[in-house]
Amino acid sequence: MKLEFAVLPTQPITCIEDFRKLARRRVPRMFYDYADSGSWTEETYRSNETDFSKIKFKQRVAVNIESRSIKTTMLGKEVAMPVAIAPTGLTGMQHADGEILAAQAAEEFGVPFTLSTMSVCSIEAVAASTTKPFWFQLYVMKDRDFIRRLIERAKAARCSALVLTLDLQVLGQRHKDIKNGLSTPPKPTIRNLINLATKPRWCLNMLKTHRRTFGNIVGHAKGVGDLSSLSSWTAEQFDPALSWNDIEWIKKHWDGPLVLKGIMDAEDIPHAIDSGADALIVSNHGGRQLDGAPSSISALPAISEAAGSKIEVWMDGGIRGGQDILRARALGAQSTMIGRAFLYALGAMGKEGVTKCLELLANELDISMGFCGKTDINDVDRSILLNPDIFD
Ligand code: GLV
Repeated sequence: MKLEFAVLPTQPITCIEDFRKLARRRVPRMFYDYADSGSWTEETYRSNETDFSKIKFKQRVAVNIESRSIKTTMLGKEVAMPVAIAPTGLTGMQHADGEILAAQAAEEFGVPFTLSTMSVCSIEAVAASTTKPFWFQLYVMKDRDFIRRLIERAKAARCSALVLTLDLQVLGQRHKDIKNGLSTPPKPTIRNLINLATKPRWCLNMLKTHRRTFGNIVGHAKGVGDLSSLSSWTAEQFDPALSWNDIEWIKKHWDGPLVLKGIMDAEDIPHAIDSGADALIVSNHGGRQLDGAPSSISALPAISEAAGSKIEVWMDGGIRGGQDILRARALGAQSTMIGRAFLYALGAMGKEGVTKCLELLANELDISMGFCGKTDINDVDRSILLNPDIFD
């Protein structure tokens, strides 16, 4: 309550959409747009959200739902709810030290936090600011020596899972990033300076930190010293030749739990299982890569069926409320990941925002599960849905 009054005297935050609106006011345009956009027509980005609302629950009454639990497991470890923080690039530009703040909020809440290769705070900085292991997300780049060292750094930082992103061999075009001249830190153009002048809170926080560029890359990749070398390096580095064979190489260097991110088709499931990975994430990269791909939630049932019990299945994309987590769980996801939901909260209110976002989602999930007559999230299945075969 204190927090709400401190931030918005007349308007408490009650949903993720409130965070989004506040983030749009507080975060510089190019970084807000970076988070809040998809590729090309953004059709896939939009359908990630809208397809959730096509799934209808069966409302049950007069079931004793007094004692409820939304705790479950991911990779065999208990989590406070079936949610992990997804890896998102440039999180430290939504709010100063954003990755550290989000990792701390996740740790305190009891859900996993995943640090992106393209983060602003480095692996070491997040490790130094948290007390429990977090997960590290890896992009496979052409410079395999850099990748090997990144894996070593993740191990040294006691990261407890490696999330390997498979859907960014090439980059989907996001019109706004090009139009905004996205860079980190922002270039001091007149347009950027005018926009920054309207974001005093963001600027003030940014002045208090020295973390303003890609912390995992600058100082670690050969030949990356300034902004232009950094942007050309990253643009050139994503490896279009990445194939299933590379996973073996990665496993050789990373001997812990491995998660494959970006699976959208059941035909890829045998490869994912053969790779020996522990979990996979049904994901279209938040609608930021292949525009025209189906929504993640609509792709989930077929993938979940193909995977059976051979590999843990999670999903991300479009989750804006606890009901969406419940729907994903009902259609076969052991767990979910949230990207934009936490980014809006972070941009709006920093660490307190991320904590509040997790609280909102947990509360919505718990109550909605009760309305469906269930008391344990681990008992939720297709039977809670009126139209369980909507995407079959
Ligand atoms: C990846 O980091 C992205 O921008 O989607």
